[in-house]
Amino acid sequence: TSILILNGPNLNLLGTRQPEVYGATTLADVDALCRAHADTLGLTIGFEQSNHEGAMIDHIHAAKGNHAGIILNAGAYTHTSIALMDAISSVELPVVEVHLSNIHAREAYRHKSYIAPVAVGQICGFGAQGYVLALDALKAHLAI
Ligand code: DQA
Repeated sequence: TSILILNGPNLNLLGTRQPEVYGATTLADVDALCRAHADTLGLTIGFEQSNHEGAMIDHIHAAKGNHAGIILNAGAYTHTSIALMDAISSVELPVVEVHLSNIHAREAYRHKSYIAPVAVGQICGFGAQGYVLALDALKAHLAI
C-alpha cells in the first residue's frame, strides 16, 4: 500500500526558511524520516513538493488509483485554496492535513483551513514528527 505525501509552496526551503518557526529539518530530512517510518509500517510512499497550486491539484488527481491516501501540507494554500479542497473532494481519498507549526497559535489568517473540512483530521504543531504521526493515523484509518 502506498501513501502520497504532498507538500506545497515554500516547503522546498525547509531548514533555511524561518527556522525559529519551522525548525532546522530540511524537506529531504522529512522525506527520509517518512520513508524510514513507512518501512516499519509496511507502507511505501510517494513524496512530492510543488510551489504551484495547479501542479498540486494534478498530484491529487494522479493519486487516485496509485495511492490509498494522502498526507498533505498545503502550506499557505491551506488558507486560500477552494481548488485544492475541491480536488480532495473529487478523488475521494482519505487526507490527513499536516502543518509543522501550530497554525491555531499563529496569525488569525492561518486559523482558517480549506483542507480541514475535507480531511480525516489535522495534525499541527509537532514539526517534522507530524508527518510520522500522520502515517500512523492514516494506517489506522485505512485499517491496513
Ligand atoms: C505551514 C503553515 C502555513 O500557515 C504556512 O503558510 C506554511 C507552512 C506549516 O507547515 O506550518 O507554508 O503549512
